[in-house]
Amino acid sequence: MTETPDAGPADDPADGWFPESVAATYDGPGGANDAAVVEPMVDVLVDLAAGGPVLELAVGTGRIAAPLAGRGVPVTGIELSRAMAARIADKPGGAAVEVVIGDMTSTRVPGEFSVVYLVFNTISNVTSQDGQVAVFVNAAAHLRPGGLFLVEVGLPSLRRLPPGQDVVPFAVVPDGEGGGYVGFDQFDVVTQQFTSTHVTVTADGTGQFRRIPFRYAWPAEMDLMARIAGLRLRHRWSDWDRSPLTADSTTHVSVWEKL
Ligand SMILES: C[S@@+](CC[C@H](N)C(=O)[O-])C[C@H]1O[C@@H](n2cnc3c(N)ncnc32)[C@H](O)[C@@H]1O
Repeated sequence: MTETPDAGPADDPADGWFPESVAATYDGPGGANDAAVVEPMVDVLVDLAAGGPVLELAVGTGRIAAPLAGRGVPVTGIELSRAMAARIADKPGGAAVEVVIGDMTSTRVPGEFSVVYLVFNTISNVTSQDGQVAVFVNAAAHLRPGGLFLVEVGLPSLRRLPPGQDVVPFAVVPDGEGGGYVGFDQFDVVTQQFTSTHVTVTADGTGQFRRIPFRYAWPAEMDLMARIAGLRLRHRWSDWDRSPLTADSTTHVSVWEKL
């Protein structure tokens, strides 16, 4: 068993938690790459951009940026991992995406944008409060007055924690051949740190143990980060269908406007 970020021989530590060995399988079929997931996101972003240019923080392999560019929206992306970013140009629409390798807490790109967006829980990859505030400040610095910063992130599943327990499983999937996959989150409610652990075991007893660190923040804390950055809340949805946030929501899509 191996504990990574750098699990494979081709992996560059500078690519962080998304090196070549992760990038190689990131765009596999199903789940987050399904048209049923991607298209509603792209529809909302096209609508919010209203014809203006957009910037994706942590653009990854262009899962959203490429189809958005394919819809005629000028898209720039900032991405830490060269291995992830290398996949963008190969996708339909991807050749039109401007990509800058850098850290979204500090990297500036030229231009003034109508929308800056950060999806797929990636604000939580920044594991300090100062770092998350820096993301909001950097997003705001790229926006025109009235421009929008959109964040999609899961709500921490603390309501599923009975007293004394800190682990919430999110997947237990036997592969039918004696192996399988187990995924769980482990929370520290004092520090707001959590880890997602992914354990994959094959029938021959080999496998992989990946543990990725995160920091959670409630929507209200993000509203304060936004305020520090000169933004104010415009929309808070439970999902990309723009349904309202409820006590049972597991995720939120929040949009702040630059004052
Ligand atoms: C879960 S993936 C999301 C990629 C893409 N946004 C998507 O929706 O498919 C997270 C991405 O964030 C990138 N990332 C993490 N921290 C970053 C940072 N501080 N600056 C820039 N990119 C970062 C990772 O390299 C990875 O490509």
